[in-house]
Parts: sequence; structure tokens; C-alpha cells
Amino acid sequence: MNILDGKKTSNDIKNEIANEVVSLINLGMKKPHLAAILVGDNGASETYVNAKVKACERVGFDSTLIRLNDNITEDLLVEQIIKVNNNDSIDGLIVQLPLPKHIDEKKIINTISINKDVDGFHPLNIGNMTLNLPSFIPATPAGILELLLRYDIDTVGKNCVVLGRSHIVGLPISILMASNSKPGNSTVTIVHSKSKNIKDLCLKADILIVALGIANFITNDMVKEGVCIIDVGITRIKSDKTKSGWKLVGDVDFKSVSEKCSYITPVPGGVGPMTIAMLLKNTLLASKSKI
Ligand code: GUN
Repeated sequence: MNILDGKKTSNDIKNEIANEVVSLINLGMKKPHLAAILVGDNGASETYVNAKVKACERVGFDSTLIRLNDNITEDLLVEQIIKVNNNDSIDGLIVQLPLPKHIDEKKIINTISINKDVDGFHPLNIGNMTLNLPSFIPATPAGILELLLRYDIDTVGKNCVVLGRSHIVGLPISILMASNSKPGNSTVTIVHSKSKNIKDLCLKADILIVALGIANFITNDMVKEGVCIIDVGITRIKSDKTKSGWKLVGDVDFKSVSEKCSYITPVPGGVGPMTIAMLLKNTLLASKSKI
């Protein structure tokens, strides 16, 4: 069993980005600049956004964090986004999800300028991605592809089973794994809440990508020998073995499943850190495409 080390790989990518920033500055260009909008005080969102801002500092980007109250109106949020769209000093904009219930997430994503949509969530970006045209690829799927690429994992003609069809992970990674590109060219099956015989479908997987958000869902009897597993899930569960009384686990029961795997991503330290590295990469791309 080999670990797909997202922590190390994301560090390598951040070093590469930091070097590119130095080169840009030496050429007289400005630093890439990411803006993040955080609405309300959702604890998990706060943690993710803070990690993104910190990552910007680490690679030499400028960042702007716009905090807005939970009860902000949709119109005022749209106004804020348009302001950022029109601000030439900002290259990329993310609006951290989920948003409060009274705000239409689709409308908000549609308002972000496609050229600044470094999350790659805008329908036009998803459309371009689907057609293999230049686009921002959503950061988590992009991180998965980068791991497969850097660990030289053969995906051509392989059975890739994706659990979950979220717009952020499951759907885009399914499209990307089936596309005629590298990595890609897999035969993809999408498994979701209405799927039947989930265990049988999983047992056919050469590459299993799990993005359900259900702790330890995949057990040893659900995978075949030699499978490559990408575990996107991250859930906090109670533990009497840690000081804090909590631990983070993935959608895969790592201990029992890993003995059957050729490769597996750990949780934490797998896909999570890759997501942030790829968001930085998209922001660098956004800043360079304006040169
Ligand atoms: N919420 C969970 N994941 C993400 C992400 O990648 N981007 C944004 N904007 N919100 C999220």
C-alpha cells in the first residue's frame, strides 16, 4: 500500500507557486490577489477561509477577506461581488459556501465574473471544463487529478467509480476522469443515493473516488485487491484516543481498507491540502491571464 501524500504534494505545489510569484515580481508584475467573501459565522467555513488566506501569505499573494453579516440581503451580497468583479487589482474571487438559506446560491455564483471564478463553480466554467476548453477547474477535483498525475497513476481504460454527485466534487471529477485528457480516459460510474447494489459497483472499481461525507462508509469488503482510493470525505468524530476528544476521519475505513489498496489518500493529509494548493494555482492562472 502506498500513501498519496497530499500534504507533501501540496507543499511542493506551493513552493512552485511561490517561485513563480518571485519571477512575476522580478518582471515588474503585481502579486496575484485573491478575495474571499465569508457570510455569517459558520465555524467550518471560517476555518476553511482562514486556511485559504494563510496559504495566500505563504506563497506571496495578496488577499482580501470580506466578512459579511449572516442577515445580509441577497442584493447587497450581489453588490459586493460586482464591486470585486470591477476591481482590477483583484484577480480571483471565492464566495465560501454554504450561504445562509435566504440567499440563492446559484444567483450568487452566476454573479461572479467568469474570469475571476477561481473556484470554477460558474456554469460557464463548468461548461467549458466539460467540453475540454480552457477553464478554471474546481479546486478539489483539480487536486485529485494533480495527485494522480504526480504519482503517475494510470487511469486509461480503468474502471473509475465516483461516490457522490455534488456540484463541487462528484459531478466535475466524474466528467474529468471520463474526458480525453491526462489523467482521464477512465470508464466512469457515478454512484449516488438512489443507486442500487452499491457494494457490487464499488467492487468493480480500479479507482474509487469517495465524496459522500459519511464517516467510514467504505469498508474492506466493498473494494477489490489493488484498488486506488481517493477519499474526499472529512468528518469530525468523537475519540477517546485524542487529547481534544475528537478526530478527523474520511469516508473510507482506512485501517481495514488500506491493506487491499495499491494507493490511498489519508484523512487528514490527503485531498484536503491539495484543494487549497489548487485554488492558489487557479488564482495564479487568473492573474497571469491578464498579463
Ligand atoms: N465550501 C466547501 N468547499 C468549498 C469550496 O471549495 N469553495 C467554496 N467557495 N466553498 C466551499
